[in-house]
Amino acid sequence: MTILLAPEKPFARGGNRLCFVHPDDDSLCIKVRRPDFTLADRRRKKGFPKNLKPLSAFDDNREEWRVMASLQKRYGDLVFHHVSRCFGFVDTDMGRGLVSELIRDGSGAISQTLKKVIWDEAFTDECRTAVEELSRFWEGNLVPSRHLLLHNIVVQRDIQGCIERLVVIDGLGSAGLLPMSIFPRVFQRNKIKKKIAVMHGRIETLLGQRHQASFPGYHGLLMHDGLSSP
Ligand SMILES: Nc1ncnc2c1ncn2[C@@H]1O[C@H](COP(=O)(O)OP(=O)(O)O)[C@@H](O)[C@H]1O
Ligand SMILES: [Mg+2]
Repeated sequence: MTILLAPEKPFARGGNRLCFVHPDDDSLCIKVRRPDFTLADRRRKKGFPKNLKPLSAFDDNREEWRVMASLQKRYGDLVFHHVSRCFGFVDTDMGRGLVSELIRDGSGAISQTLKKVIWDEAFTDECRTAVEELSRFWEGNLVPSRHLLLHNIVVQRDIQGCIERLVVIDGLGSAGLLPMSIFPRVFQRNKIKKKIAVMHGRIETLLGQRHQASFPGYHGLLMHDGLSSP
C-alpha cells in the first residue's frame, strides 16, 4: 500500500531529504528524496573523483540503510544509543521512503538539533558533557561517519527537560571511496579524532554567530514539533 505523504507537512527538510512523521505511527519518521534535488543533481554537484560513483551511491536512504544494517551486525543494539534505528523501506507517493525511529523528547515534541540547542542556549555544561559522551562513543567504537554536522545530531531530553543523549540521525558511513573498516584501527581513530575536532570548530563558529539576528541557514530548524497538527 502506498503511504500518502504529499498532503502532509514535513517536519524537517535536510539538504537531500524531506522528513515526515509516519502517518500511521507517530514514533516513526519517513525520509524521502527532495523532489527539487534529484540524485543526478546531487552527483553533478560533487567534483572528481566522487562523481565517478554510480548514481545509487548518492542515495542517502540506500546508504543509510546499508550502514545501519552493518552497524547493527558489528555492534548489536549498543550502537543505537547514539544512532537512530532504521526499519527499512516503504512505498510513498513521493517515492521510496526510509522508515526510522523518530527521536522525541519526554514532552513528546520532536527533538531539536544540536545546532538549534547551541544557538538557543550557548554551549552549556550539560550540552558539553553530552557532546563529550558522544565523542567518546564514536572514538571508542570507531563508528564510520562523515563529518559530524551539528544539524545531523539531535538532542533528546527527558520529561524534566534534561539532556538524555545525543543521537546522530544522518551522515553515517564512509566519506571516501573506500570503507573505513579496511584501514588499520589507529588510522580510523585518528580520522575520528579529526572529525571531533572539526565538530568543536563548528560549535565555536556557531557560538560566534549568536549575536546575529537570525539562525544561520535553514539546516537544523524544525518545521513543526510533531505534536500540534501542522
Ligand atoms: N530520526 C529522526 N528523529 C528526529 N529528527 C530527525 C530524524 N531524522 C531527521 N531528523 C530531522 O530532520 C532533519 C533533516 O534530516 P536528515 O536525515 O539530516 O536529511 P538530509 O539527508 O537531507 O540531510 C535533521 O536535521 C533533523 O532535524
Ligand atoms: Mg542531514
